[in-house]
Amino acid sequence: MAPGDDVPPAPGPWLGGAGAPGQRRRRPEAPAAGPEDRPDVLDLVALEAQARAVLSPAVADYYAGGAESETTLREAPGAWRAWRLRPRVLRGVAAVDLGTSLLGTEVGMPIGVAPWAYQAMAHPDGERGTARGAAAAAALMTVSTSASTGLDDVAATRPQAPKWFQLYRLHSPAHTADLARRAGQAGYKALVLTADLPVMGRRLRDLAHDFALPADLPLANHPPDRSGTAADSPVWTFDDIGRFAELSGLPVVVKGVLRGDDAARCVEAGAAAVWVSAHGGRQADPVIASAHALPEVVAAVADDVEVYADGGIRSGSDVLTALALGATAVFVGRPAVWGLATGGSSGVSRVLTGLGAELAHTMALCGLPDVRSVPRDTVTRAWTPMGPVT
Ligand SMILES: Cc1cc2nc3c(=O)[nH]c(=O)nc-3n(C[C@H](O)[C@H](O)[C@H](O)COP(=O)(O)O)c2cc1C
Repeated sequence: MAPGDDVPPAPGPWLGGAGAPGQRRRRPEAPAAGPEDRPDVLDLVALEAQARAVLSPAVADYYAGGAESETTLREAPGAWRAWRLRPRVLRGVAAVDLGTSLLGTEVGMPIGVAPWAYQAMAHPDGERGTARGAAAAAALMTVSTSASTGLDDVAATRPQAPKWFQLYRLHSPAHTADLARRAGQAGYKALVLTADLPVMGRRLRDLAHDFALPADLPLANHPPDRSGTAADSPVWTFDDIGRFAELSGLPVVVKGVLRGDDAARCVEAGAAAVWVSAHGGRQADPVIASAHALPEVVAAVADDVEVYADGGIRSGSDVLTALALGATAVFVGRPAVWGLATGGSSGVSRVLTGLGAELAHTMALCGLPDVRSVPRDTVTRAWTPMGPVT
């Protein structure tokens, strides 16, 4: 597929109710729906299967897999479903406002693209495709250090679109510092320090496939000799938060925090925000799910800084649960992989707008007009005959 403007126009204001996804049955008196007015239903299970069909088994497993027993990976989506919504009735809510701001940057929805590596393996457009898709959905994109497109080129793809740059510790501290500086100059609005990768997780699917990156895959942000190992570089500590903020001139978001005490130390050390994440189950395993870690992190720091969450977010109600638990926004990794692999930039924007539509629909059903003010008592623990689901 040639790189180009294969993206639908940016979404308009979100409306709950008529036109929302999932609405398959119509009232008897309504005219039969034609394909052009049938609301699009986002089926991520089918999309994942379609992505697997277009990728080689080794690449599909690289994207899908987790570390060790994959317990963290498996539990992540279900952990959001351990909560139940408590809808408010008779609140007169028809229209829902999905717009919010992340560290002062306006975005069209509280759902962003998490950093994910080597996007050119999923689609020839790689990170440029994701940038166009996220921009079309008015969603924030986080660009990985391990991108197949250079950070300046991704930034230039949609210069006005909101984006953050995610920093990994590369083998040369000077090169890593240079990346942080360049991110500040290229128009990124925050630097995301990934803190949960002091060493790589052991991903057994990759070992089984003897997976190696294709020799011709560009590692555009890595040093020219393609060396990517961090072994020679000192492991980051809390002190690095202030150092990178100064180098880049950007607010620093620490990604991969799963404890309240760590979150508090990040903020003391100068973090502008904390991102609750288990790295999509690809690092330590088994670890607490983001859905269960989020309340503790929010209690520790959300009075002072924004808190985000990712991991297993697969529906609008998952997003609403995270917002109710105190997240300002959520991020998706694999759903964006599936979107890019199957449809390039329009695939990415379809995933994001689909999740946004589901969120708007669920909020309207819960009597909530504004993603910036979702009360904590919107959710409660799910109950079984044995007591609350934990
Ligand atoms: C294929 C893949 C590559 C990833 N690469 C990165 C990366 O380069 N940097 C990073 O901080 N996180 C990376 N992550 C983790 C994601 O940013 C995010 O935390 C995770 O995917 C969220 O879970 P989800 O996939 O269930 O939405 C990656 C995840 C996947 C699936």
